[in-house]
Amino acid sequence: MRRLLVTGGAGFIGSNFVHYVLEHTDDQVTVLDKLTYAGDRRSLDGLPRERVRLVHGDICDADLVGSLFDAHDAVVHYAAESHNDNSLSGPAPFVQTNLVGTFTLLEAARRTGVRFHHISTDEVYGDLEFDDPERFTESTPYNPSSPYSSTKAGSDLLVRAWVRSFGVQATISNCSNNYGPRQHVEKFIPRQITNIIDGVRPRLYGDGLNVRDWIHADDHSSAVLRILDAGRIGETYLIGADGEKTNRQVVEMILVGMGRDADAYDLVTDRPGHDKRYAIDWSKLRDELGWQPQFADFASGIGATIDWYVANEQWWRPQKAETERKYAEVGQ
Ligand code: NAD
Ligand code: DAU
Repeated sequence: MRRLLVTGGAGFIGSNFVHYVLEHTDDQVTVLDKLTYAGDRRSLDGLPRERVRLVHGDICDADLVGSLFDAHDAVVHYAAESHNDNSLSGPAPFVQTNLVGTFTLLEAARRTGVRFHHISTDEVYGDLEFDDPERFTESTPYNPSSPYSSTKAGSDLLVRAWVRSFGVQATISNCSNNYGPRQHVEKFIPRQITNIIDGVRPRLYGDGLNVRDWIHADDHSSAVLRILDAGRIGETYLIGADGEKTNRQVVEMILVGMGRDADAYDLVTDRPGHDKRYAIDWSKLRDELGWQPQFADFASGIGATIDWYVANEQWWRPQKAETERKYAEVGQ
């Protein structure tokens, strides 16, 4: 039994990780979460109280972070400002949480020697041309495009430096786009599903031909657990599941899955600096740690995600109007 501290565990991927850990291990979990607009304590509902507790606090609070590190065996760091569009309209919290917050955690890891796993994104590598035969690998040069991805890139570099200079016991993973339950309605897939529920046509940025490489949140969780258990200190592992799709393909699948015409969407103002394509080569994780994704069928994964949003309107409804108000301000 391990005592695991999960930062950002009330957010989308963090909460899916906590659910996954509870089901697949004997670990005790403490969630440290600031409960920003993106965090929701209800995402931990139904989990056994004797194994999970939520500490409402900020990863930039060095005293709180220090005392929590003292009481845990390992830390998985999900907490972040995570949405590209928000980073364009207001980058300050991205610098604070993603850079200063990660620095604060690394200083605690340095003092205590606690095992640290840093969750990051494929966006640190920038984007690929549509016809590029290569995919991102662990040795692709960093080239982030947005305030969000640049702060994530900076946080990765902090982790690497703290490993090399101070011997911090850390690993890093960079994952592609996740889908699944409990994702905030600001993000692409939940936004379109909940728009359709509300009788609003889905809205695609630009020409809708940008490509994302989709992975189910549970596959992300199983990969992170595998790296925590068997990853080599100081190493970076890319996590993906061969899920490349254009945004049009995804929205058509959602529309058809919800009984609408496949072309019942609109093209709207593009995202400034919009990355064209992401694609992950995850062979290091397969060859070195023997990991494989389990959700091979994207269409059935999307179907289950649609069902979750239809069945859990009380979870997302309070976020919906404010999210759409912010998008309307920028013509999206
Ligand atoms: P999210 O926005 O849904 O959740 C972020 C969580 O962090 C929220 O619960 C929020 O309250 C919490 N948080 C924010 N600032 C905090 C602070 N200062 N102190 C403590 N808690 C704070 O994000 P997500 O989509 O679940 O992403 C989680 C992590 O995974 C991020 O590090 C992100 O960069 C990374 N990631 C996301 C994806 C994706 O597809 N969503 C893909 C690869 C990597
Ligand atoms: O690749 C990993 C990244 O994936 C993570 O690091 C980020 O935290 C996560 O938010 C996600 O970033 P994206 O910018 O790719 O995700 P988003 O859901 O915002 O958008 C996915 C694609 O859909 C992107 O090409 C923009 C487009 N889009 C998005 C929205 C919200 C639309 O066309 N219409 C929309 O309404």
